[in-house]
Amino acid sequence: MSQLAINGGPKAIDRPLGVTWPGFGDAERQALTAVLESRKWWRGGYSDPNESWVGRFESAFAEYQGAQFGVACTNGTQAIELALKAVGIKPGDEVICPASTFVASATAVILVNAIPIIVDIEPETYQIDPDAVEAAIGPRTAGIMPVHYGGFPCNMDRLMAIAEKHGLFVIEDCAHAHGSQWRGKGCGTFGAFGTFSLQMGKNLTCGEGGIVLTDDEDLAAKAFSYHHIGRMPGRPFYEHHIVASNLRMTEWQGAIAYCQSQRLPEQNERRMASFRRLEAGLREIPGVDPIPWDESLVTRRGCYFYHFRFKSEEFEGLPRSRFVEAMGAEGLGIGSGHLHPIQRNPLFTNRNFGPVCWPAGIDAPDYASVETPVADRILAEEGCSLGHSLFLGPPEDMDLILDAIRKVRDNVRELR
Ligand SMILES: Cc1ncc(COP(=O)(O)O)c(C=O)c1O
Repeated sequence: MSQLAINGGPKAIDRPLGVTWPGFGDAERQALTAVLESRKWWRGGYSDPNESWVGRFESAFAEYQGAQFGVACTNGTQAIELALKAVGIKPGDEVICPASTFVASATAVILVNAIPIIVDIEPETYQIDPDAVEAAIGPRTAGIMPVHYGGFPCNMDRLMAIAEKHGLFVIEDCAHAHGSQWRGKGCGTFGAFGTFSLQMGKNLTCGEGGIVLTDDEDLAAKAFSYHHIGRMPGRPFYEHHIVASNLRMTEWQGAIAYCQSQRLPEQNERRMASFRRLEAGLREIPGVDPIPWDESLVTRRGCYFYHFRFKSEEFEGLPRSRFVEAMGAEGLGIGSGHLHPIQRNPLFTNRNFGPVCWPAGIDAPDYASVETPVADRILAEEGCSLGHSLFLGPPEDMDLILDAIRKVRDNVRELR
């Protein structure tokens, strides 16, 4: 008799897990009504821009993450562009970023006429490999862009030491890491800037949006100017100092982002309690290993998605794709992070870079030949990801997930 749901048996998980994302309540309703009735639908309506919803969000989120200054903007991609412009990126400069990320980490670099150098990740943590970073440094390297992939912090001790040794800037892509900390210090506060996305799926969202954080007052002023058509704080409105776009966040987004930022600390605590419960169970099941979580280093885990490691050899050679299929039938959607290393996207293999202005004699690498075997393997065969909203439901949801994994493992022969 078939037991697995994929073969017609009963599902191990027969109710929705986690919570519907995003959540909202009276705070969001009242804030949106307040924006409407104020007739100040952009922050420029306020004589003190810090009193706007956008300003309140910037202060609240910067404080939670442990940064001095925040500049909210349109989205996470443009947050990276903003940060790169503010640190003074020049055409043809190289910025080292990981293969395992969303493509915007690298395309934002191209959009400011610089060149992404894509390197492999560590097999243990799935984060950018500091040795690969060091090996990729050359005469045109200007900076490093670690991405705290899934919200798990990169090794900031090593990356900051490498940056300092070679005189490079660090811009942390924190699109997945709202709340994450390395050794008690917020992700996004190590380098010159941390950049965040507030797009709908993220664990802090206002539908679309972004923010850059920094501790440097001068850099904050530059970011402000680059997001505000070249205006400078405290200067006349029609006085423009640099060529820059309009990347301003609206008050609608600011109101939602502020309210959601007030929910984030408690949500992150709940997520971490769920991770711990899930991990205690995963450790008991051969073939589904948590990423080692040294709590003296990774002191807080924000999370866009949670990764665990699928070991096919412990499942009698079952491919991950078949495990994911069987788990889906049991009632749990499992992802893999992203489809493939970013350099395998057609835009890189076909060199569709758009109207870039690289100085004469300077060209991007042949991305088709950039080898990142660890990222290839993890994205294709090993990494299993669970979305963050799964971890906000009742703690018993973790037990159901574990039951479903055990069931698939115990009946793996049915899948072969
Ligand atoms: C790692 C990473 N960087 C940057 C971005 C871009 O953010 P946005 O979609 O808000 O432009 C994303 C979006 O998912 C991302 O995952």
